[in-house]
Amino acid sequence: MTFYARFVARTQAAGQTKFLLDESELPRRWYNIRSDMPTAPQPVLHPGTGEPVGPEDLAPLFPMELIGQEVSEEAEIAIPDEVLEIYSLWRPTPLFRARRLEDAIGTRSRIFYKYEGVSPPGSHKPNTAVAQAFYNKQEGRTRLSTETGAGQWGSALAFACKLIGLECKVYMVKISYEQKPNRRSLIQAWGAEIVPSPSEETQSGRAILEEHPDSPGSLGIAISEAVEDAAGREDTAYSLGSVLNHVLLHQTVIGQEALAQMELAGAFPDVVIGCVGGGSNFAGLAFPFLREKIAGREIDVLACEPAACPTLTRGLFAYDFGDTSKLTPLVPMHTLGHDFVPAPIHAGGLRYHGVAPLISQLLLDGLIRAEAYLQNDVFASAVLFAGTEGILPAPEAAHAIHGTLQAAKAADEAGEERTILFNLSGHGHFDMGAYDNYFAGKLEDVALDEDEMSRALGAIEGLPTPA
Ligand SMILES: Cc1ncc(COP(=O)(O)O)c(C=O)c1O
Repeated sequence: MTFYARFVARTQAAGQTKFLLDESELPRRWYNIRSDMPTAPQPVLHPGTGEPVGPEDLAPLFPMELIGQEVSEEAEIAIPDEVLEIYSLWRPTPLFRARRLEDAIGTRSRIFYKYEGVSPPGSHKPNTAVAQAFYNKQEGRTRLSTETGAGQWGSALAFACKLIGLECKVYMVKISYEQKPNRRSLIQAWGAEIVPSPSEETQSGRAILEEHPDSPGSLGIAISEAVEDAAGREDTAYSLGSVLNHVLLHQTVIGQEALAQMELAGAFPDVVIGCVGGGSNFAGLAFPFLREKIAGREIDVLACEPAACPTLTRGLFAYDFGDTSKLTPLVPMHTLGHDFVPAPIHAGGLRYHGVAPLISQLLLDGLIRAEAYLQNDVFASAVLFAGTEGILPAPEAAHAIHGTLQAAKAADEAGEERTILFNLSGHGHFDMGAYDNYFAGKLEDVALDEDEMSRALGAIEGLPTPA
């Protein structure tokens, strides 16, 4: 844009609340940050040999196209037409200026948010679920197995499988299965089979139940069950909702749209914020902006996580298993130890012991930073947001709202006016039990205890150390 065009756009945008793109402006390529990273992420290792895993090691679990995307160094990868067609049911998603929130907190900063809750399952997760289901179907698989924490990922994959024509089996972390019966029904409505994890249906599940009959489950345990399911059947592939490079890649439609929408708003963010479980929604928004940062623009990129599962702020950067039963390859990432079971906080999707290796490497290189919050503070911010902007956020996404309020406060205290953009990764309409508990004063604030952390980190002793 010329200076004059930008001036006109800014003036017109000054009073606007929503910034919308036409369906024809849907991004046609995913952005691969590996092509721009100053330090390449370290390889994923085979636990038996200690050597980098090859395509043949991953082939029993994933289709070749996704294995190719996992190691690709291409800057951009074309999105298949069939995937774009399904994306067009809800994409491009809206970008909002949070004027009422700005007024309520009296900040001098401008706050924008990208809203991914308009997808049929209610979060960003179908951006990758649809792509994964598509490639699996194309390569002849007829069934997918997966884990889910809060139920957002399980419902996204059930939705994608239904539309693309695959069977789907979901292992849902037991505590969420009990807390969120409506997510369960949604998964069933889209035709998937669902069991609470740990379950009696896999060796991994039975081993955990034998030792801890009352285990609330964890993403690490549910991943073990889903991987075991897929490894044992020819017709089945495993599908992961976060962490892996190809999953983060598929989410980059979010940030690419946001870049165009910020331009419509005549603005560019000084701060970009997302919550982090495995890292996919954060990556989806942040990576296209990090491309600009790596090219020389100044942007503060903030990852928000729960104090009960502080992977980025307190975890060790190490090789660790992605699951509890040690069935996955060894992944170079910030970890709290593969047998760590986070306290049953209400942001189920953020209860994961590790994080995406791409995000770990960006943290090590100082391109992003992280903060951890207590859940009562997060829910207070969620309720303030609902009372001003109207949308009741998912508890995971509420971490990004809380981070945004902290960033606005810091800017005000420094006497600065910043433009802040955050990812509202999903709505909280299936999380009303969590809000009930918050309003009843029953939410416990849990910060991870130092002794439990040392115990859990004991599990990675003896594993290879990253270079
Ligand atoms: C709404 C929402 N936001 C965020 C997350 C965290 O996952 P990720 O870090 O992969 O975005 C989840 C996970 O279930 C979620 O449902």
